[in-house]
Amino acid sequence: MKIGEDLIQKVSQIPQVDLGHFPTPLEECPRLSEALGGPRIFIKREDCSGLAFGGNKVRQLTFTLGDAVAQGADTIVHGAASQSNHCRQAAAACGKLGLNCYLRLARDHKSIVQGNLLLDNLAGAEVEVVDVPFGPELDVVKYELAADLKKQGLKPYVVASPRSTALAAVAFTWCIAEIAQQQEQLGIDADWIYTASVGGTQAGLVLGTKTLGLKMKPFGIAPIVWENKLERLSSAANSAADLLGVDTHVTESDIQNTDDYIGEAYGYLTREGIDALKLVAKTEGIFLDPVYTAKAMACLIDHIQRGKLGRDDTVIFLHTGGTPALFAYHEELVADP
Ligand SMILES: Cc1ncc(COP(=O)(O)O)c(C=O)c1O
Repeated sequence: MKIGEDLIQKVSQIPQVDLGHFPTPLEECPRLSEALGGPRIFIKREDCSGLAFGGNKVRQLTFTLGDAVAQGADTIVHGAASQSNHCRQAAAACGKLGLNCYLRLARDHKSIVQGNLLLDNLAGAEVEVVDVPFGPELDVVKYELAADLKKQGLKPYVVASPRSTALAAVAFTWCIAEIAQQQEQLGIDADWIYTASVGGTQAGLVLGTKTLGLKMKPFGIAPIVWENKLERLSSAANSAADLLGVDTHVTESDIQNTDDYIGEAYGYLTREGIDALKLVAKTEGIFLDPVYTAKAMACLIDHIQRGKLGRDDTVIFLHTGGTPALFAYHEELVADP
């Protein structure tokens, strides 16, 4: 049996909807490696997952909206930061599936009708920008709205943690099985997989690599400071293990995740992130996003420069998408250093 086949079989048992283009490509980036004098670098192109400019949330929504449809929902309620990639992909997925979509977005410095917020509107979501910070307070707004919609006779489903994070971990366990097969085809056995995540994406990478016994170690770069992140990530991974019926147990010590590249705050660019974004665009013709993947790439570059990864290593960078946000950050991106 091919590596990962058993895990892919288990993933296929979880309720899901068909949203994206999978498997996403795994591409080598020789000019980026050369520019950095560093390891072999491959990019896993989740930014090419098909729906609505792609991104990691397409794979995740395959299962969250699968869960919603399995429960008989006709309406999705979601919300996050005003330039949320997750909400943009949810709006588009709802359009594709014929579901109503209500978004409640937290007002912030990027609540402009550009980038993701523009696309939310074009995809036909009912959008309201609210004066509530995202996180638990915004979840209250989402659940109150769902209660109102229910009174109106709709069947709402709220996308929120911890369920959504556990299903994201299922999605990225599947992604690891896919990568394991692609590695065999390419004849590589990576040492590391780097990604921008402090949630289900990394939880799935950890569960998947541990379950398959891969050499590859996941390294997560947080875009935001999240309380109790190791506890949250390990519990999402273990919930996903239960859903999948695998007997892997993930502990906090299995998880490597840094806050060191966030900079001033979530959603504010860093000089190193902008430089990393421009370098990848210039050497490989691949666009990163300003809020997540640019900071993650800045971390990878820093680790290469500090000798944590050498020329003999192979690293996979999981590109989680987010590129529409570039258009909401055009001023910062072209400003002089
Ligand atoms: C482009 C992009 N990368 C990474 C992430 C982080 O994903 P996670 O939920 O795994 O922390 C997000 C989340 O919204 C995202 O939009």
